[in-house]
Amino acid sequence: TNKTFTMIKPDAVANGHTGAILDHIIKGGFKIIAMKYLALSKETAGKFYEVHKERPFYGELVDFMSSGPIVAAILEKDNAVEDFRKLIGATDPAKADKGTIRNLYAESIGANAIHGSDSDENAKIEGDFYFSALEKF
Ligand code: GTP
Ligand code: MG
Repeated sequence: TNKTFTMIKPDAVANGHTGAILDHIIKGGFKIIAMKYLALSKETAGKFYEVHKERPFYGELVDFMSSGPIVAAILEKDNAVEDFRKLIGATDPAKADKGTIRNLYAESIGANAIHGSDSDENAKIEGDFYFSALEKF
């Protein structure tokens, strides 16, 4: 489909990169359909990342994602999921292509500035996790 879901993670918000990242996303051709600024409890972060429950970094990931405010948004563009993952770059910022959001703003594989859905199916699930129909443009 033409939608994806993103979160600007606590490291990027705390480091003052929210505005620059939103600008990068908009200039990349994505339209913001819904957006909110919020803090996740450990419980909510744990639920969002339940698919990663068995991975060794799950505890660290949940602690990190509940460590400070985030920005969650639904984005629209043709080929949104794939194009957005290109725009953000590899999970590990050391491996992210030059000029990608993670290359520019991420600190480490854990504190990696931004999330992007990995499939159309997950984009829908993740967007619905945060936003009701009333909150979408
Ligand atoms: P997201 O867009 O955030 O889902 O990242 P991704 O799809 O590039 O990576 P993946 O879904 O495999 O992992 C989810 C998140 O877990 C990553 O974005 C990282 O923040 C975190 N993560 C992945 N691998 C590691 C790791 O080895 N150590 C730590 N601390 N965190 C990790
Ligand atoms: Mg992922």
